[in-house]
Amino acid sequence: MALSVLLFAGNAMSQESPGPAPQVKLDLHEPPNPTIIRPSEDPKRTVNGLALTPPMGWNSWNKFGCNIDEQLVRGAADTMVSSGMRDAGYVYVVIDDCWQVDRDAQGVLVADPKKFPSGMKALSDYIHSKGLKFGIYSDAGSKTCGGRPGSQGHEYQDARTFAAWGVDYLKYDWCWTGVRKAEEAYALMADALRSTGRDIVFSICEWGKDQPWEWGPKIGNLWRTTADIRAAWSGRVRFRIGMVDIVDLNEPLYAHAGPGHWNDPDMLEIGNGGMTDAEERSHFSLWAIMAAPLMAGNDIANMDARVRDILLNRDVIAIDQDTLGIQGHRVRDDGDAEVWSKPLADGGRAVVLFNRGSQSVEIAAKWTELGYPAKMSAEVRDLWAHKSLGRKTGGFSATVPSHGVVMVRITP
Ligand code: GLA
Repeated sequence: MALSVLLFAGNAMSQESPGPAPQVKLDLHEPPNPTIIRPSEDPKRTVNGLALTPPMGWNSWNKFGCNIDEQLVRGAADTMVSSGMRDAGYVYVVIDDCWQVDRDAQGVLVADPKKFPSGMKALSDYIHSKGLKFGIYSDAGSKTCGGRPGSQGHEYQDARTFAAWGVDYLKYDWCWTGVRKAEEAYALMADALRSTGRDIVFSICEWGKDQPWEWGPKIGNLWRTTADIRAAWSGRVRFRIGMVDIVDLNEPLYAHAGPGHWNDPDMLEIGNGGMTDAEERSHFSLWAIMAAPLMAGNDIANMDARVRDILLNRDVIAIDQDTLGIQGHRVRDDGDAEVWSKPLADGGRAVVLFNRGSQSVEIAAKWTELGYPAKMSAEVRDLWAHKSLGRKTGGFSATVPSHGVVMVRITP
């Protein structure tokens, strides 16, 4: 027999019906009704304890869009091992939109049988057998952005399906959501995921429309802060914006990030064309200093050594993954010349000198701008040249190429 309790409807009814709130019968075996329980407003709500450093992995969307199948995903998993990406920290293999085609008679999501003939559990097992983790995509609305079935009204059912498939990471999009309130929609899926008992990193993809940095930390592990990225230095094309446009939107939000809850300036476009080598290094350096999730978005199975060297720069990855979990930010803005700083767990600082201009320029950073005493002496290590610049007192300077960075680690 179902276990039932009586709850007071509380706030939801109070405007219309003064006097005693009506009693509502709730079956604990049923998913909560979001019109009665407002899960995001639970003062005891906490996130799941996962993603204490920004998640790293690969996602199919930026390069492949809807052109995905199990061979592609298996190949990506193979490359994550053979290229050294897994051992550098890239562990989530995330299938983005367009894997799903329908729901069956019981309402269970169905993967495209032509593109994923072995099924999602087999793919998940394969990914896990490589020492990697499996990520998947759904949407809080009736349909995904690609027009596939969304999870609205099926939150608990889909969470159970994902858990049964061994999903470790869910990216949850915001298309076709009508008048839904973002905070509640995401809290409902967070509860559904939690109810499965499986550890599933929850990636909120709401594009920053309803200030997810305000409510995201208690609901998910990362939240998109902007529209979609495109493989370009700057400029909007419909819903997609350039790399530095995203930087400027994500930077001011630094105070909202921390272990387990990160601002997500979208997936990497390194290796997808559209940016120069200097711009791609700037992209990677700025994502790392902003403690952003590092999701490779390129065709990793066919990447060349130049692209691999960017994605596998372990000195830069270490800045992103620093356990203190502080998102770095701009500490000086001289027009095209900028100084960025990120405090590190060992008392050091990551610093990016960033040149947005069209000519090389000398940029200087003073210790006092980084929160250090002026007279301090510190070791300065160049994280792209992979060499020490020596011990410096008071600050350091370097010549920075157009659209490029010099990124260093400072150790007092
Ligand atoms: C939205 C998201 C993208 C991607 C697509 C898939 O645009 O922001 O990252 O997931 O949907 O359709």
